[in-house]
Amino acid sequence: MGYNVAIDGPAGAGKSTIAKLVAKEKGYIYVDTGAMYRGLAIHFLKKGIDPEDRDAVAEACQDAEVTIGYENGIQQIYLNGENVTGMLRTEEVGNMASKTSAIPQVREKLLDLQRTLAEEKDVIMDGRDIGTNILPHADVKIYLTASVETRANRRYNELREKGEECDLEEIARDIKERDERDMTRKIAPLKMADDAVLVDSSGMTIPEVVGRICSLCRES
Ligand code: DC
Repeated sequence: MGYNVAIDGPAGAGKSTIAKLVAKEKGYIYVDTGAMYRGLAIHFLKKGIDPEDRDAVAEACQDAEVTIGYENGIQQIYLNGENVTGMLRTEEVGNMASKTSAIPQVREKLLDLQRTLAEEKDVIMDGRDIGTNILPHADVKIYLTASVETRANRRYNELREKGEECDLEEIARDIKERDERDMTRKIAPLKMADDAVLVDSSGMTIPEVVGRICSLCRES
C-alpha cells in the first residue's frame, strides 16, 4: 500500500498548484483526478453528446478508455490512446466534466484507475471525493478551500496572464454554479470528510499552504 494524501475542495481553490508542490517536496506522485473527468468530457464533446442526456453519456462511456502516464514527472491523460493533456483546461471541457461527473457510469469508469494508483504508489491525489469515497483510509486528508471572491480573482489573473479576455463577474458566477453542482449531486458530492483537515487558503501565500500540508504528512 502506498502512502496516500487526499486533497479535496472546490474549483479554483488551488488544489493542483499546491498538490504539485507538496508532491515535489515529499517525493509523492501527483494524481489529478479532475483531469481524468476532463479527459472523458473531451470524448463526450467530440461525440456531440448533450450532458443532460444521461443515457447517451452512460452509453458513450463504453467506448472511452482513459489512461494516465507521466512525462518528465508531469501527468499526461490519454483518451483512447491519444494524448489529450493540452486540451483539458478550457471552460467548455471543465463545465462538461462538472456536469457529466454526476453520472454514476462516469464515476465508475474512473474509480479503479484512481484506487489502483493509490495502492501501488505514494500519491497526493486531488479531486472532490478522494477523502470521502475513493480513498477513505488515506493517511492524510485535506479539504482545501478559499472564498468565491478569492478563487474568482485567481482565475481572472491566470486568464489575463495568458492574454485571454475575461470578465470577473462571469468567472465568479461560473465558480458558484460549479460549486453548487459539485456539492449537491446525489453521487459522491463534494464535501469535507469527517477526518479531513480544513485549510482555507484565502489569506495565505502558496508557500504557507504548502508548508501547512507538508507538516501534516509523515517525515520524508
Ligand atoms: O478539478 P477540476 O476542475 O479539473 O475538475 C473538473 C470537474 O470534474 C469538476 O467540476 C467535478 C469533476 N470531478 C469530480 O467529480 N470528482 C473528482 N474527484 C474530480 C473532479
